[in-house]
Amino acid sequence: MNENKLKINTLVYQQKISLSTVNYQLKKMGIIKDLFKIKADAANIEIKDLLKEHGNKKIGEVTLAQIYQGMRGITGLVTETSLLDTQEGIRFRGYTIPELQQKLPKAPDGDQPLPEGLFYLMLIGELPTEEDVNHITSVWQRRSHVPNHVFATIDALPITAHPMTMFVTGVMALQTESNFAKEYAKGLNKKDYWSITYDDAMDLIARLPRIAAYIYRRKYKNNEHIQPNGLLDWSGNLAHMMGYEDESFKELMRLYMTIHADHEGGNVSAHTTHLVGSALSDVYLSYAAGMNGLAGPLHGLANQEVIKWIFEMQKELDTQSPTKQQIANYVQKTLTAGKVVPGYGHAVLRKTDPRFTAQMEFGKKHMPNDPLVNTVWNIYETVPPILQSLGKIKNPWPNVDAHSGSLLVHYGMVEYEFYTVLFSVSRALGVLSSLCWDRVLNFPIERPKSVTTAAVKLWLEGKEEIWE
Ligand SMILES: CC(C)(COP(=O)(O)OP(=O)(O)OC[C@H]1O[C@@H](n2cnc3c(N)ncnc32)[C@H](O)[C@@H]1OP(=O)(O)O)[C@@H](O)C(=O)NCCC(=O)NCCS
Repeated sequence: MNENKLKINTLVYQQKISLSTVNYQLKKMGIIKDLFKIKADAANIEIKDLLKEHGNKKIGEVTLAQIYQGMRGITGLVTETSLLDTQEGIRFRGYTIPELQQKLPKAPDGDQPLPEGLFYLMLIGELPTEEDVNHITSVWQRRSHVPNHVFATIDALPITAHPMTMFVTGVMALQTESNFAKEYAKGLNKKDYWSITYDDAMDLIARLPRIAAYIYRRKYKNNEHIQPNGLLDWSGNLAHMMGYEDESFKELMRLYMTIHADHEGGNVSAHTTHLVGSALSDVYLSYAAGMNGLAGPLHGLANQEVIKWIFEMQKELDTQSPTKQQIANYVQKTLTAGKVVPGYGHAVLRKTDPRFTAQMEFGKKHMPNDPLVNTVWNIYETVPPILQSLGKIKNPWPNVDAHSGSLLVHYGMVEYEFYTVLFSVSRALGVLSSLCWDRVLNFPIERPKSVTTAAVKLWLEGKEEIWE
């Protein structure tokens, strides 16, 4: 960091000049990366002071049950980009989804937020202007080239491979482009980790729509590909390259990419990206690891499971529009077979997911009479009381995955195995802006303590001290 920047940081920290003055100057130059660094340096000073004064304060206790039960309720991570409230749902840097829909810049004639704006918000910590969002769109356009060997690697997989397998394989093939890995091998100064991580993150995000669309067209559309359109925004271009030109589908993609982007730090995909990144694995390695987690049916794959489950129900009942009673019977059958009702329940949330509600509102505006979408709404009225009556489920309400597939099917995207790829493209915005923060804050390698049951028994018998 040069001397001027250090001076600015100190002045900002001492509140002698406002951040808006600094922002204005930097925005005029269009340098989001520098603004990020200034914010991060101020945060670094703040965190150091905070730890100096309060570092020994206890923030919770851990029970034996918690370490056997998925560490639920243990606070053990810092993730700056978003925070999940059990009742309210997700807040991105303090803003709820309805607030984002209102406050983030939109495409011309659109009414859904551009996810470029959410990325800016998560990275910088404040709302972007239209100019900022347009700037990110053009940066991502510029960086979106995907080298041929990535497509060749995807092509080497059988067409029957799951789209998530193709996606993660494509991202791993793209790892050849990691500047962090190259520079680290040459001997990179610790102070520069954040800068190259930021550049790698911008490159990767920019390239993901092309990889996703390539997989879609390869697997489902006779391997006939569509070239990117340099005039479109990130989500609009994804829709275009997949072959969907309907303006309202592009709006759906903007909404989809915004609401799936982040869900604080402890979920499997965010935590995995952060954990793998803590070993100084580059952006490509860390993100691919996280997306392998998203591909699990209890996490992101639930969106494909929901539509599969509804299609199976329609087939079995021989109707496109099952009644609520028929739905209730089918739910009972699912539970009796020892299966979960996909799209319902959550590890943290304790009410209807606002991401479900945002999609329901989109459905009411764009497709109020669609039979599948109406079935999703009827399931919403039927499932929670049944799950509640079991007495063991902590959250009987729908999550984001309960709705997303039905909106995609409305536009003809019936290939539900592909849905988690869309989720992954969106999730990159959250986990990679977080990884930039991990690097700039110099978070160390993550290494919690684990124990064996034998050690637990000795401890219970008083034969072993609590572990360090
Ligand atoms: C999301 C999920 C993994 C959270 O798991 P969790 O934190 O362990 O949830 P709970 O503490 O409420 O689970 C308590 C019990 O209820 C069951 N349960 C939770 N959600 C259920 C559902 N949708 N259908 C049936 N049973 C469910 C659990 O399997 C568990 O049963 P067990 O004690 O017999 O093992 C879980 O709700 C689930 O599997 N949902 C369906 C898949 C899904 O939609 N995933 C996407 C999440 S965004």
